[in-house]
Amino acid sequence: MKFIIENLNQIIETTKENVPLALALREQHIEWMQSCGGKGRCTTCKFDVLEGMENISPYTPAERKYLENRQISLTQRLACQVRISGKVVAKIPHDSKLPHLHYLDGNIKP
Ligand code: FES
Repeated sequence: MKFIIENLNQIIETTKENVPLALALREQHIEWMQSCGGKGRCTTCKFDVLEGMENISPYTPAERKYLENRQISLTQRLACQVRISGKVVAKIPHDSKLPHLHYLDGNIKP
């Protein structure tokens, strides 16, 4: 899989496609917000999908619940819930940015 984080200028490539994206990111030492520890209980690990939604595993029950509650949009997925097989271009939304990282489209407002 190839996961391109557009506003962090990072490309993650791994042959491990059967692990949650959040775990693949951790293995590549990419810092990612995960307030509930990857249990599908918070949505802080969400990302915007710019390209490659077809390369992301089907929605999990947790994602469906947050979609119904409008806590994530149709173009957002949860890194702790998804598995990627192919190329995905993504962007971290403002409310999921970590304050100590520099994002190409700006950081969180103080
Ligand atoms: S880390 Fe909480 S939902 Fe993914």
